[in-house]
Amino acid sequence: MTRKYLIAGNWKMHTTPTESRTLAAAIAEKNIFLKPPPSVQTLICPPYTSIYTALEAVSGSGVQIGAQDCHSEAKGAFTGEIAPNMVKASGCSHVILGHSERRQYFGETNAMLNKKIRAALAEGLIPIYCVGETLIERQQEQTVGVVRSQLVDGLKDISLQTASQLVIAYEPVWAIGTGLAATAEQAQEVHAAIRSFLAEILGDISADILILYGGSLKPENADEILSKPDVNGGLIGGASLQADSFAAIIAAACKLAVS
Ligand code: 13P
Repeated sequence: MTRKYLIAGNWKMHTTPTESRTLAAAIAEKNIFLKPPPSVQTLICPPYTSIYTALEAVSGSGVQIGAQDCHSEAKGAFTGEIAPNMVKASGCSHVILGHSERRQYFGETNAMLNKKIRAALAEGLIPIYCVGETLIERQQEQTVGVVRSQLVDGLKDISLQTASQLVIAYEPVWAIGTGLAATAEQAQEVHAAIRSFLAEILGDISADILILYGGSLKPENADEILSKPDVNGGLIGGASLQADSFAAIIAAACKLAVS
């Protein structure tokens, strides 16, 4: 059976437009060389200010561009915010929503994220909805409960017509930027739980939903983590800021997709 993968880079608050042009062009070149099969998609999510230059730099390479956030309203007096239709019209296919850094530093709640997810889907943007537990929550064996409520509350009342577009990213907070990734078994265990919660919330279409792993994913652990049955790719921070390491993860997905 063909495995589907999405390998997504989250550049966070890194790269000026000039730097993003260089990095995106290097990733594009490697993607052209790797020729991923249609079942393997690649995506980079630069800061808003670099979307345009990154888009130009990846033209014709098959690499898609996404944003790292958007607002839930279509327009209005929300200084500093960007509406989903603006993200879409800038050439983005995807938008990351609910990253743990947004939850932690900018007070984003499941209820706020539910509005953003519905607004993004209504604009034809693919939300990459991030869920995951903190270290304390894992130590207190609350992982599955936390992830369940992030999904139940975040996906409340979303339209079943568009829901199969959705992407979920499981990012244990303790694994982000620490160098300490979840083991492949830990990732698979939570991904399987997410898959069953999605079935509960969304029914049959849940089988089509891509569930990405994020948190210190790198070339050294990509093969093992991406080989797990409920892992459909990665949301990659640090290792996506170097074309070589990002391409090595794309290559791992390409190999697994056809094996
Ligand atoms: P790192 O890959 O740097 O741990 O970051 C993961 C992440 O937060 C991706 O969204």
